Amino acid sequence: MRTLIQNGSLVRSTGIEQADLLVENGFIKRIAPDLAETADEIIDARGKLVFAGFIDTHTHFDLDLGVTVTADNFVTGTRAAILGGTTTVLDFATQDHGMTMQDAFDLWQKKAQGSSCNYGFHMAISEWNGEHAAEVERMVAQGVTSFKMYMVYDAMRLNDGEIYAALKHMAALGCIAGVHCENYDILNERIHELNSVGMRSPLGHPLSRPNEVEAEAVSRLMRIGQLAHSPVWVVHLSTQEGLEEARRARRRGQEVYLETCPQYLVLDDTRYAEPDAEKYIMSPPLRKRADGDALLSAMTSGEIDVIGTDHCSFMMSQKALGGGEFSKTPNGGAGVQNRAQLIYTYAVRTGRITLPQMASLLSENAAKLFGMYPNRGSLAEGAEADITLYQPEGESTISFRTNAHHCDNSPYEGMKVLGSISDVLLGGRLVVRDGKIAQEGKGRFVFRKPGQRYRT
Ligand code: URP
Ligand code: ZN
Repeated sequence: MRTLIQNGSLVRSTGIEQADLLVENGFIKRIAPDLAETADEIIDARGKLVFAGFIDTHTHFDLDLGVTVTADNFVTGTRAAILGGTTTVLDFATQDHGMTMQDAFDLWQKKAQGSSCNYGFHMAISEWNGEHAAEVERMVAQGVTSFKMYMVYDAMRLNDGEIYAALKHMAALGCIAGVHCENYDILNERIHELNSVGMRSPLGHPLSRPNEVEAEAVSRLMRIGQLAHSPVWVVHLSTQEGLEEARRARRRGQEVYLETCPQYLVLDDTRYAEPDAEKYIMSPPLRKRADGDALLSAMTSGEIDVIGTDHCSFMMSQKALGGGEFSKTPNGGAGVQNRAQLIYTYAVRTGRITLPQMASLLSENAAKLFGMYPNRGSLAEGAEADITLYQPEGESTISFRTNAHHCDNSPYEGMKVLGSISDVLLGGRLVVRDGKIAQEGKGRFVFRKPGQRYRT
């Protein structure tokens, strides 16, 4: 099967090139201007931006929180992802207490059957002892080279010593671990303080977890990483103070990778006054405009590495399980379909980042950091033909009604976005055509190697 993509503007981290692209049997075969090749399918990409397929570094599909299970499973979540131009999601396989990492890996492999985009797993661990240490090598042998640890949530949190030991062990195997950075003791104490003065509504959520709660935890993680001689990856960074702590560590010579999410760039904490504010209850919470601005500036200067969505969706009926109390409301929001359009609209078209930076942030850096480069994350001859075409013209309005995700709300409801995803190739197959799903369920597991340490 040969597909020729003609007349497009190829966007790479290194610049923009007018060229044609020939795909053969799932791989990019040739890239050159005016290719005179025969093909089974010809896609006219005139006026369109051609990117290496986008990679979402942070999703939670089919995640069981105990009280409830996320609204999106892999079938609905990856359908939304592919329509949003994301060809690979890295979801958090979660090793709950009493489970081995192998149990979690096997369970997530089952859950991911029927995915419409490719998928890999970060292994989120809730326990760390000698047995778990031995399991890391088994995970690497099965293509899982990144891990996650939480400083929060009773069911998931590790203490500082466990984080230190795990980081040390993982770094020795060339793996990287992301850490959810919030000071759990302090945020719980603040929930108690707020509740005791009758503050239980969503307005209390950001007050319980102010910027210092994240910054203290980022600072602690930086020092733990320093002692462990390990790189660290801060997941969903949301504050300027947390960013400052990461900068300080980098100035000391530490290897620090930063992920942020669209919600921390384009939304702010005034949303907690809205009538359906439960949909914004996520951790970390939405912040002040100045925080979003600081993160956008850090994107401009190349200090942010990757952008994940932290898609962890719940129906409004599930959000209501908290009885209107912020501290009891399931945490998380939807967003997997909207990442590229939001970044294009609110970061590229506002002049905060260039198109080549968008290619780095949405695809290339993730492929490098998480061991998929250059097979993915690059428009190069020999790479897998995971390719996203972006039509920069036109404007639309985000709504959960038109999003393919299953849940009945979106934190971005009503926001205007510029341009759209027109076509997506997954392993050379045209799976999205003219903004509509053409083939479902074609996603495959992505076996990953240890990532590249591009910040050393
Ligand atoms: O609120 C969020 N982000 N829920 C998902 C789990 C996590 O903390 O990343
Ligand atoms: Zn998350």
